[in-house]
This record gives sequence, structure tokens and C-alpha cells, in this order.
Amino acid sequence: MEEPVINEREREVALELTAHKISIREWWFKDNALLTFAFNTSSATVPEGERFIVRAVEEAKGLVSDPVLREQADILVHEELAHAKMHDAYNRYLDAQGFPATKHVQETAVLLTFFERIFTLRMRLVTCMIIEHFTATYSKQVLDIGVLEGEDTDERMDRVWSWHCIEEVEHRSTAVDLYRAIGGGYFLRVLIGAFVSLAFLIAHARCLIDFLRAKNLLFTWHVWSNGVRYLIGKRGVYYLVLKYWLFYFKPGFHPNQIPIENRFNKQLHHYHIEDELVGYFDVPVK
Ligand SMILES: [Fe+2]
Ligand SMILES: [Fe+2]
Repeated sequence: MEEPVINEREREVALELTAHKISIREWWFKDNALLTFAFNTSSATVPEGERFIVRAVEEAKGLVSDPVLREQADILVHEELAHAKMHDAYNRYLDAQGFPATKHVQETAVLLTFFERIFTLRMRLVTCMIIEHFTATYSKQVLDIGVLEGEDTDERMDRVWSWHCIEEVEHRSTAVDLYRAIGGGYFLRVLIGAFVSLAFLIAHARCLIDFLRAKNLLFTWHVWSNGVRYLIGKRGVYYLVLKYWLFYFKPGFHPNQIPIENRFNKQLHHYHIEDELVGYFDVPVK
């Protein structure tokens, strides 16, 4: 597929910054610590979640015979493993910047390993479904509202997040379709969905607080006064996540019921660019 000019221009800018060994600045979004750290928090809590999803989806795929659904599962696995690889590099960059990213990666791993030990496959698929619901609505926010567009944002981070969001949108229905195919019901979906939502919220908030604390910014007034509208305001990363969270609990919920406009027409040629994105984080932090 041919890429629209906007993405080609962004790609060239990103490659040039990397070629000139200009590291991604600490506050890479509009010099706004809170929004920058909110995205960074997602990076730290994501890769172990993605590996958890891959394991559950591969197991569920073994129980279904529908070739379309099996292919959907393969696409999800391919995409999530690529994301996890990119976020491993992103998190190494965060560690080098002095953020305790690896600590939170490990904490997420401990939590999800515990879930894997006590949860049935259906419960693990519900965990995938609610995580995918969060990532799909987060992605809708990034692609439809254009959180990263028209702002002073490092172009490399725009590409990293836009790529991830496009693929999250692409496979947003897979876990739900697998859950239905293996006979998963409403009661378990809402019960475990509510429980995992709470666990996810706590893990995410703890990480954001830790990142702010690492930079002595947790109680800095201007960080919150400048940043809070970018968290929950209309151009904020969590606006649609909060707005659509309850949709998940409706009987008959399906992710396709939430339309994605992709208003900025981000059409990254998204397969196999993870190595290019990983390269953005190879520039040593100054
Ligand atoms: Fe992902
Ligand atoms: Fe996903």
C-alpha cells in the first residue's frame, strides 16, 4: 500500500533525527511532563500484557476450527509480539532516562503470572478482552482526536504510538470473537472484566506516580495544572478510555460497535517496521 505524504514526511524526520544521533528528549510531548509520562507509563505496563495475550490467544486458537478466526488470531499474535519487542527497547530508553520502567515491567509480569496460575482459559481471555478494550479506545483517541498531531512532539514517538494504535484497532475484536467461539458467557465477562479493570488501573496509576516521583515532579503544581487537561480533557489520552469503559459491560458488547475514524489518516505500512522503530531508541540518552 502506498503511504500518504504525511506519514512519509514523518518517517523522514524520524530517520533524520536518529541518523544525527539526537536522542528523544525526556519530555517528548510539548515539554509536558504529565502527558509524556502517561504515554511512558503505558509502555512500561504493556509488553508483559501483550505476551500474556499472545499465550491466551494461541491456546484458544487451538480450540477453534473457523479458518477466519484462526487467521485473526495469527495476526494478533504477530502484531503483539512486534509491539512487545518495540516496547522492550522503549523501556530500556526509559531506564536510561532514570525512570523505573523495568521495575514496573517485572511487577506486571508477577501479576499476570499469578492470573495465569489461578485463571481458566476463559478468564484469561476476558483479561485479554478488557485490556484490548482499553487499548482500542486509547488508540481511537490517538487516531481520531490526533493527540500527537500539530503539537511539539518528537516525530519518532508519534510514529511509535501511531503504529501501535493502528494495529490495536486492527485486532481489537479477536479476543472477543475467540471468547464467544469457545462458549464464554456474559457473567464471567463482566465479573472478571471489572476485577481486571481495577487491577489495571492500580498498576497504571502506581507506575505513573513512580515516574513522577523519580523526577521529583509528583507534587509540582505546574506539572498538574499544565498536564491534567491532556490526561482527561478532550485532547487527553484517557478521555475516550473513560468515556467508553462502561460500553464493555453492555450485554452483546462487540468492539466493532465503537467506530474508528482515523481522522488523520495514519496509514503506516505497519508490518515489519518494528526494527526501524526499535532503532529510534538506540540513540544514547544524553
Ligand atoms: Fe499491542
Ligand atoms: Fe492488542
